[in-house]
Amino acid sequence: MKNTIYMLASETNRQMNSFIVTTEEGGVIVIDGGWADDADKLIRKLREITGQDKPHVDGWFFTHAHDDHISAFNKITAEDKGELSFDKVYYNFPSTQFFDNFEPTEAHALKKFYNNLPKFADRICIVYQSDKYEVKGAKFEYLYTADPNYQFNCINNSTSVFRMTLGGKTVLFLGDLGVDAGKKLLSLHGKGLKSDIVQMAHHGQNGVDFDVYEAIAPDTCLWCTPDWLWNNDAGLGYNTHCFKTIEVQGWMEKLGVKEHYVTKDGDQIIQI
Ligand SMILES: [Fe+2]
Repeated sequence: MKNTIYMLASETNRQMNSFIVTTEEGGVIVIDGGWADDADKLIRKLREITGQDKPHVDGWFFTHAHDDHISAFNKITAEDKGELSFDKVYYNFPSTQFFDNFEPTEAHALKKFYNNLPKFADRICIVYQSDKYEVKGAKFEYLYTADPNYQFNCINNSTSVFRMTLGGKTVLFLGDLGVDAGKKLLSLHGKGLKSDIVQMAHHGQNGVDFDVYEAIAPDTCLWCTPDWLWNNDAGLGYNTHCFKTIEVQGWMEKLGVKEHYVTKDGDQIIQI
């Protein structure tokens, strides 16, 4: 296998994050995985990519506990059909009580995750800021993990931000990190955020501010962004919705970014 990032488009028309990463050392990594409706596709793509009927995932990394990021995993582990196997799950999620207190309508996905936890409790790795891990040639460095002081937009701001180094390239995964935690990320690392490739925060809108991207100074942007969100289209045409995607596209133009991969165009394959 080659060092490759597969950024999957959703089976739904909604925003979500789902990545498969393969390494020259034979590693298979999943990052998030999308909605429950994306679970079958994730398994199908893993089969195609690995050539295995029952694919094996060496490391499964979660950014945060929103539905559109962990529900495919929740479905796979709840049904437990033995369609794939995995060695280790890496995450840092706040407690259900924290979510119940500050974002109760969105706590359901985390509760499902914890309900299934006994099935994979022997394979979890709770991550913390400054942790470093290596999975078959892919290095992961955690730059930020959940800070309970962020009680507004608390699930997005609990995103675990990590930088993957693979094949000499650096890829920064911002998950759905919000403005507030983005300020902390910047204060912690400043120009140390510099990375070759960035996964755009919160599907490319209303995530971290311009100054965070300025410090990252990416060559390439990965957008987990469906067509309507890319165009900020409420069904009435270009830029008729309330999202900030077009403003963020302008930021990237200002930074001179030339290369963009967007799931509006379907599954994306990035060789690194
Ligand atoms: Fe999301």
